[in-house]
This record gives sequence, structure tokens and C-alpha cells, in this order.
Amino acid sequence: MKCLIRLKVNGETYEIAVEPRKTLLDVIRNEIGLTGTKKGCNMGECGACTVLLDGKAVCSCLVLGVEADRREVITIEGLGNGVHPDPLQEAFVKHGAIQCGFCTPGMIMTARKLLDENPSPSEEEVREAICGNLCRCTGYVKIVEAVLDVARSEKGGRDAGLLSHR
Ligand code: FES
Ligand code: FES
Repeated sequence: MKCLIRLKVNGETYEIAVEPRKTLLDVIRNEIGLTGTKKGCNMGECGACTVLLDGKAVCSCLVLGVEADRREVITIEGLGNGVHPDPLQEAFVKHGAIQCGFCTPGMIMTARKLLDENPSPSEEEVREAICGNLCRCTGYVKIVEAVLDVARSEKGGRDAGLLSHR
């Protein structure tokens, strides 16, 4: 038996018939074809599958597709692309915060959520925010640097915007 679900992914609405046991991660990757979201452990341990569900960062391997019915999902493809990258995507490249890249989409989704909620995080707060996103390659130092760099430049942009309105 399949259930018909309707969900919005990166601003586009999809109606899909899914098996009730299928995870949101599998729906995103296999039904919708957005493979930027990675499947690592498939059990909520690595964070590689992180997406925003109604604005909240979740492990999409722990959410059933049917639970996402009538909800809104943002994946890494919705954050930015090669032509219009998110500042975090640019900073990860600039700081060499990507090696194999497997953790990167989930890491960036978590970091984006952090910066949206806390635009000026301390190093400690960045480390705490990404503690559920495992990276086997980088040692995290460059990832943390990249996130802090974006926080500084986004803050600079906001401050300049405020000044220009005075
Ligand atoms: S694949 Fe979802 S947490 Fe690892
Ligand atoms: S860059 Fe390889 S797991 Fe993070």
C-alpha cells in the first residue's frame, strides 16, 4: 500500500505515492532525485542527511516521508547552487573545509540554521551546533573557521545596512 503525500521541497510542490515505511531521506533522494542530501548511517548518528523541515534542522533518515506530508523541506540544493551559492558554500571552499565532501551538505544545513538563529556565534557555539554532524576527514578546524568567517561577514553586511539607513 502506498500513501499519497504532498510536500514542498525547495519551493516546489511534489505529490508522491510513498510506502509508509520510506524515510524522508529516501523520498528526497530516490523519488525527487535530489541527491545532495547524503545517506551515511541511516540511523540518526552522523548528520549527513540533515535538511530543514518547516525551518527546523532534522536528520531526514529519522523522519518518515508520510510525516512530511503538507510540510516544507529545504535541502542543500535549495540553499544555493554553483551559480548562486550560499555564503557558507563559498566559505567552505575558501577555507578548505571540504575533503571527501560527504558530510558537507548536512554540515552546511546545520550551520545555516545556526547562523539564522544566532548570527554571531562563538567558536564554542559553532562547535556545539555541529556536534551532531560527523566529519571523518577535516578535524573540524577549517569547518569552524568557515562558519565563523560567514558569521563575521554577514554581521558586517547587516551593520553596514543599518548604518546606511541612518
Ligand atoms: S544518515 Fe541520517 S544521521 Fe546519518
Ligand atoms: S569532508 Fe569527508 S567526512 Fe567531512
